[in-house]
Amino acid sequence: MADIPAIQRAAPVGVTIVEDAAQAHGAQWLGRSAGSLGRLGCFSMQQSKVLAAGEGGAVVTDDDALASVVQELRADSRRYTTAGSAAQDLELEESATVMGANFCLDEFSAALLCAQLNDLDAQHEVRNSNYALLHARLEDIPGVRLPRHHPDQTRLSIYELPIVFDPLPDGMTNGDVAAALSAELHTLFYPPREPLNRSRLLRPWTKPTLAPLAERFVAEHRDRVYPNAEYLVGHAVLTHHSTLLGSEQDVADLAEAVAKVVFSRS
Ligand SMILES: Cc1ncc(COP(=O)(O)O)c(C=O)c1O
Repeated sequence: MADIPAIQRAAPVGVTIVEDAAQAHGAQWLGRSAGSLGRLGCFSMQQSKVLAAGEGGAVVTDDDALASVVQELRADSRRYTTAGSAAQDLELEESATVMGANFCLDEFSAALLCAQLNDLDAQHEVRNSNYALLHARLEDIPGVRLPRHHPDQTRLSIYELPIVFDPLPDGMTNGDVAAALSAELHTLFYPPREPLNRSRLLRPWTKPTLAPLAERFVAEHRDRVYPNAEYLVGHAVLTHHSTLLGSEQDVADLAEAVAKVVFSRS
């Protein structure tokens, strides 16, 4: 989870912080939930997330004026009606202060998400307690660690679990380690994707609305280096959060598989 209060302190006056909490449902910073620290918070409900409906998302804010704008952006310039509505009504009014598009989540997905919300806290407890267990079990394996979280993050929401190998086992890339763990455990492990600053997916200059800013964006990022991100790309192995939803025995099996890969090369 990002240190939003630090970003807020560093931001020039008048800059609005929009919190990308896409994969952080239920995470907390000093007891405050991810998504509630910025002026707006955004969540993803894409299939891999801890709260998933295949696709979709949500934007949250406690700013009434912004909430109205976000509603209009979501529903073709309409917002929820405050008046009662008859059966089969859209329950929307044509408030039309900004031009929106249709980003509405369908009701089947919403129903799936509401049902999962009831389980989210319990799932976090299982994942977080298994994470602590895994942390303890990996301590005896040289060169293997889980990333430490900031002490102000009072609750984790684990999305893609990274296991860091420094150094990597002799003669292996992290891709090789991921393949070996996948084979041992019949669960998918994979190396991280390229970091955002050199992601081939990030092409703002091809989008008419972003093109005017793209030149500045590219110039600002051209000479920047991100050593921590680059290090993790070459030394971490990831697995989906559901890997941590199993039993204590599953965690023991995972630690044993990591030990097998490491000790087979030392
Ligand atoms: C941090 C972060 N931001 C944004 C997104 C994009 O979410 P979506 O796929 O719902 O657009 C993701 C998805 O993985 C994410 O992890």
